[in-house]
Amino acid sequence: MKYNPRVVNTIISQYNSEKSNLLAILTDIQAEYNWLPPDALKLVADKLNVPLIDVYGVASFYHAFSLTPRGKHIVTVCQGTACHVRGAPTVLNRIQGILNITPGCTTADEQFTLETVNCLGACALAPIVVVDGNYHGQATTQKANAIIAQYRKKKTTKKRKKGMAHATARMNTARRKRISVSKKRKKK
Ligand code: FES
Repeated sequence: MKYNPRVVNTIISQYNSEKSNLLAILTDIQAEYNWLPPDALKLVADKLNVPLIDVYGVASFYHAFSLTPRGKHIVTVCQGTACHVRGAPTVLNRIQGILNITPGCTTADEQFTLETVNCLGACALAPIVVVDGNYHGQATTQKANAIIAQYRKKKTTKKRKKGMAHATARMNTARRKRISVSKKRKKK
């Protein structure tokens, strides 16, 4: 999503522009954009009357915040010991191949960001792939294909629905025009 100062202003005003709400404000901005755009951080610093360096200090301290653009879907592949011995490196390799990116990067269409982590605390499910907070346990290279396809499909389905809605709207407009023309003819 493109940065919009009005959206960030609305978030800040929901917290009454109070310094004590800095963390909550950053959390909401992160939820909106999937990262913290520099212009948003400047605006937060101005409105809260906090030095910009302090805002960056908080933003860079918490792992949940990102200072670089991230994709719509966050794919995290665990590389902890339990996952590693059960084949996590091959799963990671496959996902890298599917998305054509390495960990820490985002696809050119901004749909996926790939990350790794050292243990998610659910080793019994190893190896684990997490997408947008959804855990996919006992992952394999075959499952990796299906997992990524599932999130790609969501995008395609949405696009198709949008396209169909536009087509239906066009058809309805054309139908209404035809009806009004035939009514006029009848009156004559
Ligand atoms: S090592 Fe992957 S969840 Fe613990």
